[in-house]
Amino acid sequence: MKGIILAGGSGSRLHPLTKVTNKHLLPVYDKPMIYYPIQTLVNAGIREIMIVTGGNNAGDFLRLLGDGRAFGLSHLDYTYQEQAGGIAEALALAENFADQEKIVLMLGDNVIEGNIKDAVHDFEKQKVGAKILLSEVENPKAYGIAEIRDGRIAGIEEKPEHPKSNHAVIGIYMYDERVFDIVKTLIPSGRGELEITDVNNVYIRSEEMTFEILEGWWGDAGESIDYLLKVNNLVAKDGANKMKLSSEGA
Ligand code: G1P
Repeated sequence: MKGIILAGGSGSRLHPLTKVTNKHLLPVYDKPMIYYPIQTLVNAGIREIMIVTGGNNAGDFLRLLGDGRAFGLSHLDYTYQEQAGGIAEALALAENFADQEKIVLMLGDNVIEGNIKDAVHDFEKQKVGAKILLSEVENPKAYGIAEIRDGRIAGIEEKPEHPKSNHAVIGIYMYDERVFDIVKTLIPSGRGELEITDVNNVYIRSEEMTFEILEGWWGDAGESIDYLLKVNNLVAKDGANKMKLSSEGA
């Protein structure tokens, strides 16, 4: 399976911190934000990773990450998003890289306490479709929110005014190769973006979406200045991307 990390966007919710740099280069405790999603994918056994970035700071990612040696990789792929048009639009840029394989898509501002090794392993065995990860939140109006009925996801609403649950869809998504055809059928949402929630709802309608509840905390460090601070403090206190020891049954 291949990994795609999105690290573009304007970072407007973090202005003025992002006025002259890309959000994903900001510090989260002792490392640049982009280190965390890369480590998450590497810990899950993914060795082929593409970074999708954009804006004025694309060169900084090359200087920072190079060939990925700091993560034990011998190689990293990069591509450039001309303008910020949503998560699904950025994903579309990785179609050639994915080359008909299953993928894990991760948002570059998402940080998790634990690891996704088991979920990735389960998805490798899943014949078709997609898998998402959910985490309970206190501010459901800020995220994609899943409604679970009879053990299945009945639908996802993007930033709902009246949330049907507090199960947020976190920024780690697993898809089969058909995801790129689905993206081509999308129309821009009210905020002018191709929404990943619309992609997920296609898989839900065809009953090909599975889900798991994430263990440990999850933070969307790009959600607001307060969340950036919160994620910094969580990483300082607990660390991130912890692997279970094999004696614990990993
Ligand atoms: C995006 C997704 C949303 C998801 C969130 C997770 O929101 O659209 O469904 O819950 O990432 O970080 P955005 O960060 O684009 O507002």
